Amino acid sequence: MSKHENNNIPEQDGKLNEENEPLTMPALPAVADSDVGDATDVEGDPAAQLLELEQTLPQGDDRNAPYRVAVFASGSGSNFQALLDSSKAGKLGAEVALLVSDKPQCKAVERARAAGVPVFVFTPAEYESREAYEVIILEELKAAKIDLIVLAGYMRLITSTLVEPYMGKMINIHPSLLPSFPGKDAAGQAIAHGVRVSGATVHFVDGGMDTGPIIAQRAVEVTPEDSATELQLRIQDQERLLYPEVVSWFAAGRVKLDGRKVWVF
Ligand code: GRF
Repeated sequence: MSKHENNNIPEQDGKLNEENEPLTMPALPAVADSDVGDATDVEGDPAAQLLELEQTLPQGDDRNAPYRVAVFASGSGSNFQALLDSSKAGKLGAEVALLVSDKPQCKAVERARAAGVPVFVFTPAEYESREAYEVIILEELKAAKIDLIVLAGYMRLITSTLVEPYMGKMINIHPSLLPSFPGKDAAGQAIAHGVRVSGATVHFVDGGMDTGPIIAQRAVEVTPEDSATELQLRIQDQERLLYPEVVSWFAAGRVKLDGRKVWVF
């Protein structure tokens, strides 16, 4: 069963927090980017190189339609809310056009309904496989003309069924300075390791666990007195500032993936 705005779907089994499972999808291929290929011909002058690169990129103003974002969330949705607020304030340059969730009763769904954002909820246990429900999600994304998928606490593995069509158009936020502490309980891992700086990372989604090219990071100081919960809360404060900013870069056509390097103009 797949439903929009269905209040009667029972709570999902709740047993799946799958962020730590290994993914089996192919990794994001290196981008042999013909659009930026001749940038290296402009030798010795970084400013000239940037100008050349910029001229090859589609700019936000070139678009006829508003940039449309789908947020995937399974939990509290505080990042989703930050994106919504930013959009309403006219700072995102994008419309939050869809919330996708595997948890019909979660707070993120509640927030979307309160804000009048279309919701697509599904019950994974009712499908034979991940691919089976992802095919349905893909149809919803296409119907909603989604330009960018923004994962914000979506607690499910994503397979190549979704990753491949949205290669370079799917991003995630993770509560550590990647590549340190991927997977579950990143704040707990940071505390256990005794690091003095952690933070948040926004990255492209590829075939691995929090392994995609890094778009932006924000540092958060860690003290020996910190608990994992305290650190997590401070990191999330930063996430809610960072994520809307990064999405606004995409909406303005300012982000270019070049192998593992990400250019922001
Ligand atoms: C965030 O900390 C994010 O880094 C992680 O999941 C959490 C989602 O929080 N991927 P919220 O649902 O946006 O409040």
